[in-house]
Amino acid sequence: MDHFCAILSTDLTAVEQIHRLSLYAAIVAAVIFFAVLGSILYSLVHFRAKNNPGVPSQKPSNERMEKVLLVIVTAITVVFAWLTFSVMAKVQDIPDDPKPDVVITGHQWWWEAKYPANGVITANQIHIPAGRKVLLELHSADVIHSWWVQALGFKMDMIPGVTNHLWLYAEKPGEYIGTCSEFCGANHANMRIRLTAMDTADFSRWSRDQLAPAVSLNDPLFVEGARLFQQKTCTNCHSIQGVSAKMTIGPDLTHFASRKRFLADMMEINDTNLRAWLTDPQKVKPGAHMPNFILSKKELDALTYYIGHLK
Ligand code: CUA
Repeated sequence: MDHFCAILSTDLTAVEQIHRLSLYAAIVAAVIFFAVLGSILYSLVHFRAKNNPGVPSQKPSNERMEKVLLVIVTAITVVFAWLTFSVMAKVQDIPDDPKPDVVITGHQWWWEAKYPANGVITANQIHIPAGRKVLLELHSADVIHSWWVQALGFKMDMIPGVTNHLWLYAEKPGEYIGTCSEFCGANHANMRIRLTAMDTADFSRWSRDQLAPAVSLNDPLFVEGARLFQQKTCTNCHSIQGVSAKMTIGPDLTHFASRKRFLADMMEINDTNLRAWLTDPQKVKPGAHMPNFILSKKELDALTYYIGHLK
C-alpha cells in the first residue's frame, strides 16, 4: 500500500503521477481481464458436454461468491476513485489568484504566447525556463483547441470565453513536441507545438532578445520589403515591434527569422517555404486566415527577404 500511495508523493512530477496512476490501473485491469478469461476457459473445458451428458446441474445463484465479488469490485472502484481525485487535486493545484508565466491563445491554426512578467510576445515557438514549474493561462481566439505537450504536463482544453490554467514542468532544457488535441478544423493536424525549455540564464537572454525591436537593414531589398509590408496591409493583422505594426490577429513577426519553423511547426523557415506561403497561403494551409495578396515576382522577392531577415 505504501508503494501504491507513492503516486501521491511530492517528489513526483505531475506527468509521473499520472503515468503511475494509469500504470496501476492498467495492471489491475489486466489481472481482472485474465481472471475472467481464465475462468471462462476453465469452465469451457471442465464443463464440456463430453463430461456432462444431458443438461448440466443448474445453480440459480451463488450468494457467497456474489458478495465476495461485490466487495472486491467496490474496493477497487473506491481506491481508484480516491487516487484519481487525489492526483487531480495535486497536479491541478492552481492558486486562487494565478499569476501565469505564459498566456497562450490557440488560433486556427497557430499559437500565440505572451509573457506578462516582461511583455514578450511570440508565436508558435514557445520558450519556458527549465527546472521549475511554469503556470500557463490558456485561451482560444476562435474554436475549441486543446494544449498538450505530452512529456511536460497533461492535456487542457482552450475554450472561447473561458480561462483555463495548467502547470508545466520541464526538468531539463530541450525541445518538446506537442500537438493540438481537439479537432479544430481542416488543419487541426497542422497545429503542432514546439516548446523549448532553457536554463535560467538562456531563458533570460532569450527574453531580452525578444524585447529588442525588429532589425532594420539598409539594403534596398529590405527597405522595399518593409515598405510593401505596410502598403500591402500586412500590418492589419501582424505586429512587428519597432515599426508601426501592432495588430495581433496574425502571429507577431518581430523576430520571425529567429524561429526554426512556422505555421505551427508545419514548415521549416527558409526562403523556399516562405515564398510558397506568400505566393499562395491557401495552397500551403487551406482555410488559414492569411489571404492571397497576388504578389508580383519582384514584390515576393522583397517581402520574402524582409520577413526572412527579421531576426
Ligand atoms: Cu487546434 Cu486542433
